[in-house]
Amino acid sequence: MKRRDFINWVGLGLIASSLPVAIAACSSAQTASTDWQTVGNVTDLDKSGQLLNENSSIGPVLVVDTSKENLVAVNPTCTHKGCTVAWKAEAKKFVCPCHGAEYGIDGKVQKEPATQPLKTYAAKIEGSSVVVRQS
Ligand code: FES
Repeated sequence: MKRRDFINWVGLGLIASSLPVAIAACSSAQTASTDWQTVGNVTDLDKSGQLLNENSSIGPVLVVDTSKENLVAVNPTCTHKGCTVAWKAEAKKFVCPCHGAEYGIDGKVQKEPATQPLKTYAAKIEGSSVVVRQS
């Protein structure tokens, strides 16, 4: 066997043996991202009707209680320049303090300068925990 053929066989063997590991890693990461993730507890949510977790496993999440246990969750990072939006309960909208962009309860832009919607998540209460998942 020529040296080049030997190297090709060894390389092919390495790729073939690592392929199942790579596929398993990709599938478990995808599964984890669709699982419910705890972002806080009900006690904290009840204090002000909103719960901000800037370091959750799926990134920053703002959960708001729009009415009795009707939860809405968004990534609060403004799509204009990245400031953190605030929930204005009386107006039922997310407002950016930096340049005044406004988003509806569904995350859609209501007022520029932002042009892209906020990312939204499914949210619910499980026991004493507030949980969200990618929707
Ligand atoms: S960063 Fe939010 S409007 Fe500019």
